[in-house]
Amino acid sequence: MSRVFSGIQPTGDPHIGNYFGAMRNYVTLGEQYGKNSIYCVVDLHAITNPAASDPAALAQQTLDMAVANFAAGLDPSKVTFFLQSQVPEHQELAWIFTCITPVGELERMTQYKDKSAQFESVPAGLLMYPALMAADILLYKADTVPVGEDQTQHIELTREIARKFNHHFGQTFDEPKAVYNKDALRIPGVDGQGKMSKSKGNTIGILEPLDDIWQKLRAAPTDPARVRRTDPGNPHVCLIFDYHKLFSDLDTIQMVDRECRTAGIGCVDCKKKLLEGMTAHLTPIQQRAEELRADPDYVRDALRQGTKEARAIAGSVMEEVREKVGFLKL
Ligand code: TRP
Repeated sequence: MSRVFSGIQPTGDPHIGNYFGAMRNYVTLGEQYGKNSIYCVVDLHAITNPAASDPAALAQQTLDMAVANFAAGLDPSKVTFFLQSQVPEHQELAWIFTCITPVGELERMTQYKDKSAQFESVPAGLLMYPALMAADILLYKADTVPVGEDQTQHIELTREIARKFNHHFGQTFDEPKAVYNKDALRIPGVDGQGKMSKSKGNTIGILEPLDDIWQKLRAAPTDPARVRRTDPGNPHVCLIFDYHKLFSDLDTIQMVDRECRTAGIGCVDCKKKLLEGMTAHLTPIQQRAEELRADPDYVRDALRQGTKEARAIAGSVMEEVREKVGFLKL
């Protein structure tokens, strides 16, 4: 049976890079796979950086991430959506995987190299991160994993772990494959300094008030060659045009493309047009998020139900794994 699995970092307020890069993909796959699309807020992964994880903030961000995904169109009654720490089998399988994974393989991961460089004393969990991620995926025998391209190496390691487990203990896991968002154009940050990312502080949140978004857009750089209003611009070097491609309808995209080149439209008007598209897109999501925040019982019940669904699969896979590993059954 074909299954989708993905883990979502509990960063609290997702930005439009997360939305177009990942969240919309979850919704699409959710429509295709139904309950066999399994999404999990990875709070266990979040604490691999103990310095950055403040307990009250973690709990709040975990809840916020569920709200944001439900608001963006994931229906918890149609897909499986839960919290990683509620399903202890993730940790159990992760331990078994750490026992068959060479330290050298883990040290080779670029994400580990980057992140560990920020510590004087590196937490061991940071090194084990990919073993836990492999456990997340293989615990559900998922074959399809929607991720960002930065996760390719981790998926490759998951495949190796699956092979190694099968080799030691007999055929158990198929090798999952990563799927990338087809229109995963790299979404630039609103400062024009490369990719949108939370750590760079250059994001536009999907739940951010539109007034705040407008302040950011107003300050955003455009084609640097377009100094005066009368200078023709090049939309293809302008991040505002990149955003138009995500939020505006085809007519508007073509209009601003043409009018920018001929200086028919100024940058401020072009930004105002963009705000219209963003407003149309984000308002229903923000309204839904408000409704969900006003109904925390609904969100918690949905997560409890998701936990039940996840544990039904995780429990039976772990039973098989325990037996194969040789843990005595009493
Ligand atoms: N490491 C992933 C990220 O940072 C999150 C993640 C954890 C994940 N477990 C996963 C993604 C399993 C896909 C499958 O984005």
